[in-house]
Amino acid sequence: MKGIAILGSTGSIGCSTLEVLALHPEHYRVVALGAWRRDELLFEQVRRFAPEFAVMADESAAARLAERLRGSGSRTQVLAGAEALAGIAALASVEQVMCAIVGAAGLPSTLAAARAGKRILLANKEALVMAGELLLEAVRRGGGELLPIDSEHNAIFQCLPLGTRCGVAPSGLRRIILTGSGGPFRDWTQAQIDVATPAQAIRHPNWSMGPKISVDSATMMNKGLEFIEARMLFGVSAEQIEVVLHPQSVVHSMVEYLDGSLLAQMGTPDMRTPIAQALAWPERMASGVKSLDLVAAGRLDFLPPDPTRFPCLPLAQQAARTGGLAPAILNAANEVAVQAFLDGQMNFGGIPAVIDKVMQQAAIGRLETLEDVIAADDAARRAARRLLPAHAPKHVGAR
Ligand SMILES: NC(=O)c1ccc[n+]([C@@H]2O[C@H](COP(=O)([O-])OP(=O)(O)OC[C@H]3O[C@@H](n4cnc5c(N)ncnc54)[C@H](OP(=O)(O)O)[C@@H]3O)[C@@H](O)[C@H]2O)c1
Repeated sequence: MKGIAILGSTGSIGCSTLEVLALHPEHYRVVALGAWRRDELLFEQVRRFAPEFAVMADESAAARLAERLRGSGSRTQVLAGAEALAGIAALASVEQVMCAIVGAAGLPSTLAAARAGKRILLANKEALVMAGELLLEAVRRGGGELLPIDSEHNAIFQCLPLGTRCGVAPSGLRRIILTGSGGPFRDWTQAQIDVATPAQAIRHPNWSMGPKISVDSATMMNKGLEFIEARMLFGVSAEQIEVVLHPQSVVHSMVEYLDGSLLAQMGTPDMRTPIAQALAWPERMASGVKSLDLVAAGRLDFLPPDPTRFPCLPLAQQAARTGGLAPAILNAANEVAVQAFLDGQMNFGGIPAVIDKVMQQAAIGRLETLEDVIAADDAARRAARRLLPAHAPKHVGAR
């Protein structure tokens, strides 16, 4: 029985992880679940999986959860606060940690899991974007391992030779081809994109995901964050990564070797596949995902991305090339801008504009310590907030 902690258990990835685990109760024991403030959903999960610990970052949500669990006779211990999330990531009884908190909030617990030598199942791409070198160094020192959950990086990982180490490009690799659907606005005009509503932005054509990553997919910042993530995880240069639009989301990414061989990982677009792959690695186990019907899929298209309508992608690629604290600054500005858009405070078209201005104004330093990252993140958030419009634009629709 492998002990597992799921941080962000109430989110899209967290729920998919629990679905996969429910298929294999003889192999996995849910030791701890963690979330932010959705105590009702966490209560249901605790009732179903009976973990030893349930953590809520929000103190009042934790108090509500504890109250309800007491009334139900549960033995699960409820903990509160962000530090408790990092604490359960390092528990001795936990072998694997699903890091599925969204955004910068996931960094401390991911680092704690790395330092404690756990197998990290990394969905929280923002942690790697912000502090990639520090995180990979913590994984190396901790003696654990990091397996990517992002479908593209998981696909690449599956196409690389067994024994490939995180952050070190295997010999014979020519390039990585990162595929992306292009999001819900792939065929929209600039004028339509500029005034798109949150409801339109989170309606992804192929994937069912949380609101922040759905907006990132619509701006193509998601592909930009993945570009940075790929550089970190696979130790390749920016020039070795090509982004290609693939509207069907059947090929999840590809790896090209020096001899011209192109290896792809394909499947039904469902996050339970990379989750099960990483949980069981190097073995394989059922995920509950249905087989891909190739005849029904019919055709596979590949197109170049449009940097003019989707400027977030080149902004992120530039941050990857600049390195140092640039990705952390980009990530922070993006988180603020996306939240402002979701809150109806700003147009969709304002997202890249805010990020671009923050990047232009920022003094981009070197990344040496976690304190550097936290300071850069904090300064970029303040800079981004100053750029938000004072009043909600009239044409922003309701969610
Ligand atoms: N969804 C996908 O298909 C997908 C694919 C690839 C990568 N990812 C990555 O996986 C991560 C999670 O994505 P998601 O779509 O699952 O997000 P989501 O559905 O929005 O869920 C986010 C999770 O994080 C928790 N959370 C949010 N803020 C927190 C905080 N300050 N402290 C502690 N917990 C916090 C939420 O708790 P509450 O529910 O209590 O708010 C929830 O459990 C993201 O980094 C995303 O980029 C997702």
